[in-house]
Amino acid sequence: MGNRMMIGVIGGSGLYGMDGLRDAEWRSVDTPWGAPSDSILTGALDGTPVAFLPRHGRGHVHSPSSVPYRANIDALKRLGVTDVISVSACGSFREEMAPGDFVMVDQFIDRTRGRATSFFGAGCVAHVSVANPTCARLSAACAEAARATGTRMHDGGTYLAMEGPQFSTLAESRLYREVWGCDVIGMTAMPEAKLAREAELCYACVAMITDYDSWHPDHGEVDVTAIITTLTENAARGCKMIAGLPARLEPDRPPCPCGCDRALEHALLTAPGA
Ligand code: ADE
Repeated sequence: MGNRMMIGVIGGSGLYGMDGLRDAEWRSVDTPWGAPSDSILTGALDGTPVAFLPRHGRGHVHSPSSVPYRANIDALKRLGVTDVISVSACGSFREEMAPGDFVMVDQFIDRTRGRATSFFGAGCVAHVSVANPTCARLSAACAEAARATGTRMHDGGTYLAMEGPQFSTLAESRLYREVWGCDVIGMTAMPEAKLAREAELCYACVAMITDYDSWHPDHGEVDVTAIITTLTENAARGCKMIAGLPARLEPDRPPCPCGCDRALEHALLTAPGA
């Protein structure tokens, strides 16, 4: 038996709100992990409930290191979200993944440090699998919806999650690309993806390419002001992609074929009542 689908959107740089939501309302949500990045915009798209959270807050007040990742995922879960779409600006390590293209990320290498990466710990121990950290069903729907907007979408890619806030050195950029085989780089999808799995939420990660990081001989170093135009155009198409999602997902949501919504079934080690 399914449960009712609610789409959660975590918007990255350039994406701080969503037009076209019916009964739109900014709601403040509290969690045991503190406040999320901002209030959450709730409403409906084609009759499907949607919750939108700007990852950096309106006005872009949270750096990648200070985003309250646990509070964000917890707040979405509390509102009833079942499927999370993470949208973020990324650099590309591949010639064919050009600025303006989107990539459906399906793997990560986590090089972040000092971030709280789990809801579990002393008192309640759990080890979930993140071997396949994204949801294939949700990712396929995002890819189809993005293509319908005319966006060039690449199916699958490995995301290098770096701490930032500085961009990579040239040596790091070459290492990630040539030795580690990464496709895109960003600062925010980890630990978000791991936490979504612990919260038994389906999670899809849309990398919106803004630049070639620093490895490309024909492109200069990454420069935030230079990528703003691409970022803004990407964000507008990201919104259109989200608007196309309800039509591509079943509202009376059958259980996730990948098992995202049952991730804790065999993951908890602490005995009940211990
Ligand atoms: N976000 C956008 N471009 C990026 C890059 N090159 N490295 C890390 N994060 C990014």
